[in-house]
Amino acid sequence: MSKASAPGKVILFGEHFVVYGVKAILAAIDRRITVTSQTVGDSVIEIRSDLGASKFGLEEGTDVAELRPFEFLAKKMIKEFAHRGGIKMEIESEIPHGVGLGSSSAACVAAAASVSGLFEKYSKSQICELAIEAEKTIFESTSGADCTVCTHGGIITYGKGSGFERTEFEPNFSLIISNSAVTHSTDKIVAKVAEFRDGNVETFDQLCRKESELIEGAKAEIKSGNPQALGALMGQNQEYLRQIGVSNESLEQIIRVSGSGSHGSKITGAGGGGCIISIADEGSVGSVLGSLERNGTECFAAKIDYSGLETF
Ligand code: MEV
Repeated sequence: MSKASAPGKVILFGEHFVVYGVKAILAAIDRRITVTSQTVGDSVIEIRSDLGASKFGLEEGTDVAELRPFEFLAKKMIKEFAHRGGIKMEIESEIPHGVGLGSSSAACVAAAASVSGLFEKYSKSQICELAIEAEKTIFESTSGADCTVCTHGGIITYGKGSGFERTEFEPNFSLIISNSAVTHSTDKIVAKVAEFRDGNVETFDQLCRKESELIEGAKAEIKSGNPQALGALMGQNQEYLRQIGVSNESLEQIIRVSGSGSHGSKITGAGGGGCIISIADEGSVGSVLGSLERNGTECFAAKIDYSGLETF
């Protein structure tokens, strides 16, 4: 048996623009997905998760689209290690699905570690690469940012092609996550942004340049420990996200409600639904959560996870 778990994530700055080469700042959060795998004698792959269950022969495939990454990982490892038999996997999640908190990436990372761990101990970088490959079976244009932070944990700056850098500074702000309860398909929203870009090449390039400058500013503010300035940059980032068409009224309403008491709020992840992230001083967390709850918004305070992928 081989067991592994990986944290979910928030994107503090840079979603969508990261797909086009701009850097993004991400943090892993204290909600996890655990995957337990075991080899079985029969030549079958069996996957059980909250998203559905599927059992099929090695020559067949799953009919549950969301389970394709797990099928990919099981088949790849069976081939790589010439395993004569099958694999059974069980996925348990503390992360709400389809709301921008990295449930799919955390599941891919934990599954990549769990399944490969049946045969060999891979390094974290190898597991991350494998997880990105698996995630591409359902989201071809992924930047790889989410799998990277779910693997390594902490706060990272990530660039597609240039890799990641871990931030050494412990932040002096608290994170509040509000769930609009509108699920989204990251793939579809990323495709919608690609359409926007095709029709507005110059505007989009200009926004990418502005976002790059903003990210440099945000890195400096994290380092100097200035949550007010960081919150203002989040507001600016949200404006760029509005301009590329990934915000909507229910998200804007949550941003307005969390406005008093927090330093700033924005979409986290693909948008079009999903979650809003706010930063606040520790002493204000209770009042921000209270306002959101009175508004009927599901919300919680999240801690940063510094462990990343764990194997058992
Ligand atoms: C999704 O969590 C983040 C996006 O930037 C897509 C990606 O980076 O692959 C929207």
